[in-house]
Amino acid sequence: SNSLRALASKVGLRVGTAVIPYDLDNAAYRRITASQFSSVTPGNEMKWETVEPTRGSYDWSAADRLVLFAKQHDQLVRGHVLLWHNQLPGWLTTGVQNGTIGNGQLRALLHKHVTDEVTHFKGKIWQWDVANEFFTDSNPSTVNPNDFWISHLGTGVIADAFRWAHAADPKALLFYNDYNIAGEDGSNAKSDAAYAFVKRLQAADVPIDGVGDQAHLDTQYGFPTKMTQDLQRFARLGLKVAITEADVRTFVNNATEQVPTDQLAISAHAYYYDQLLKACLAVRSCISFTVWGFGDKDSWVPGWFTGEGYAGIYDVHLQPKPAYTELQQDLKLA
Ligand code: G3I
Repeated sequence: SNSLRALASKVGLRVGTAVIPYDLDNAAYRRITASQFSSVTPGNEMKWETVEPTRGSYDWSAADRLVLFAKQHDQLVRGHVLLWHNQLPGWLTTGVQNGTIGNGQLRALLHKHVTDEVTHFKGKIWQWDVANEFFTDSNPSTVNPNDFWISHLGTGVIADAFRWAHAADPKALLFYNDYNIAGEDGSNAKSDAAYAFVKRLQAADVPIDGVGDQAHLDTQYGFPTKMTQDLQRFARLGLKVAITEADVRTFVNNATEQVPTDQLAISAHAYYYDQLLKACLAVRSCISFTVWGFGDKDSWVPGWFTGEGYAGIYDVHLQPKPAYTELQQDLKLA
């Protein structure tokens, strides 16, 4: 078969996608998810606000649906995400703001959240994104002191989250995940900071297995040329690496059809995907290449970047784009 998953399996790579579980009701979407990918990530459904919308009562239904789908289709699951400043339940952030949840209790709630979630999915998750986005682009020299978790619980909370996750499911691979931590030109300060940080975690015997680079790219900024060497640098620490949320946005005519305004952007888009996959293929420890949704209709991009879109490898009508063919070609030659 010429599917991405079949071609990738020959070189021992998992090719994944973020999935919106209720979209699996759509036959075309379901067929592509099952036939092209050997790994899936819930885009939102394992985040704290989704799994515990009301304090003390869990709703795993959407995530469970995807985990079952994955099992039925011989796919591995990337769990996303345990410790992040975003998409926290309102009861938690409000409680912290109005002082009814103090730092000691916040820490206990986090411990319980990590333990309960990892335990719920025990044995069913290949890689967990344990900690996500702790460095800023503007001042990455250290973890962001203004981050919700760091400001309340200190930097040690990241190491704790890894330890708690490991205790709950010792077999899951535990990842630090962030954007712009591989490949940036110029100072490469954010990659350097993440590198120094995970090295410190290892020195402190924190159970970290891998580093994920999200790879949300934009054709207007140029392809990050140091991608391979930065991934390799993490790999040399004995870590697995992964591309976890790949997409490539560009300027489009409108958010519905998402046709690039510049014809050249179509080949740039395909070229960025090609270069990203080649970077992963060049690094032996790069174990998965995941796109952040495959179809443009489902992309987070138009909602976040005014005037941009066309980020996926299938168009809004679920037809494969040149970028898809490029990935297929790379895998054939790998
Ligand atoms: O579910 C509500 C819906 O009820 C409501 O009507 C609608 C109106 O705005 O919002 C819906 O929630 C949206 C949610 O996605 C589910 O679709 C939120 O507004 C929207 O902000 C949220 O965006 C998600 C984003 O994370 C928020 O942090 C994206 O789908 C998701 O793809 C994106 O994923 C992140 C990764 O987790 C971490 N790395 C960056 C990546 C892209 O931002």
